[in-house]
Amino acid sequence: MTEHQAHIETILAQAGNRTDDAKTGAVSTPLYFSTAYRHAGLGQSTGYDYSRETNPTRDVLQKTLATLEDGVSAFALSSGMAAIQLVFSQFKTGDEIIVSDDLYGGSFRFFDLLTDNYGLKFHLWDGQDEKKLTSLTARDAVKAIWIETPSNPTMKIIDIAKTAAIAHEHHVQLIADNTFYTPLLQQPLNEGADIVVHSATKYLSGHNDILAGAVICKHEADAKWLERNLTTTGATLDPFDCWLLLRSLKTLPLRLAQHEKNAQAIVAALQQNDAVDQILYPGHGGMISFYVHDEQWVDSILQHLKVISFAESLGGVESLITVPAVQTHADLSEAQRQAKHITPNLLRLSVGLENSDDLIDDLTQAINIAANTQTVK
Ligand SMILES: Cc1ncc(COP(=O)(O)O)c(C=O)c1O
Repeated sequence: MTEHQAHIETILAQAGNRTDDAKTGAVSTPLYFSTAYRHAGLGQSTGYDYSRETNPTRDVLQKTLATLEDGVSAFALSSGMAAIQLVFSQFKTGDEIIVSDDLYGGSFRFFDLLTDNYGLKFHLWDGQDEKKLTSLTARDAVKAIWIETPSNPTMKIIDIAKTAAIAHEHHVQLIADNTFYTPLLQQPLNEGADIVVHSATKYLSGHNDILAGAVICKHEADAKWLERNLTTTGATLDPFDCWLLLRSLKTLPLRLAQHEKNAQAIVAALQQNDAVDQILYPGHGGMISFYVHDEQWVDSILQHLKVISFAESLGGVESLITVPAVQTHADLSEAQRQAKHITPNLLRLSVGLENSDDLIDDLTQAINIAANTQTVK
């Protein structure tokens, strides 16, 4: 694939192939558990010395992640939060960061810790108001803008290119959490972002069985700094999970296409359902949020679902449903949740790869039972 860049499906299906041609010709990249690597003599190295620093299986995964997001380097970490922590390790006491106001709840929890214990300051931005962003970005202490788009759980879209232009005018870094859309639907680095973060626990791994994170950099200087910090602190992804994640990435294009097809079918069905007040769907991907008419129905809906599981994650083959107000966003104050419209009647559905008719039937019967039970009472 040297003469022309292959399509992403080809790159992913072939990821890891031809990495062991000299020894075995293995088609699936070898899994190296060894933490230590022998030296032939003083001052000699195969390029691998100790697994916290480099590991051959992790290297193959990291190269694939960098290609996927079109970055210069990628790092595979032990969780999405470890990835976020690595990126924030760049900042010092007194630094200020602008963050979009509708984020994964764990990110907010981490920002509170950084505020209380490490003296960072955070400014909330609604993701839309360019004037406000421009004036905040002009502050000397502001070092970065952190965005999630689509946002979690209300699916707001932020214009990455416009945000990047404002950031760069003031020499501020733009960091995007691309967990929801994945690089197949959106490549933030190509739209101007400087660093991308993933909870690879979600779509990238896709089977609700690996906890992992990724950081992908556009600039060598950022990559060098982050690599030094990561190999020093050590929250790297272990070899077996690297291998599993690489295997999962091979089917990402197929999975994502079906997640999206199923999600669009469910949106169309929910639009016909009188018990559903509003549906939040950004047009792509497999994540849907929706408000049921009465918050008293929620527990009954969750208890009557037979296919969709009431569980707190997303992006996997199995459909999962959560109640952000009491799960992912429970740590926000009531007032903060109200302001973001994260009310107790909001449900967030990660649409899996089951047959969409079965998912629609499951949701419809559970909503109908809940709504009718309430009416009879
Ligand atoms: C958008 C987003 N970013 C980051 C994270 C944190 O990732 P992890 O749970 O892999 O640590 C999550 C987890 O739900 C998430 O949804």
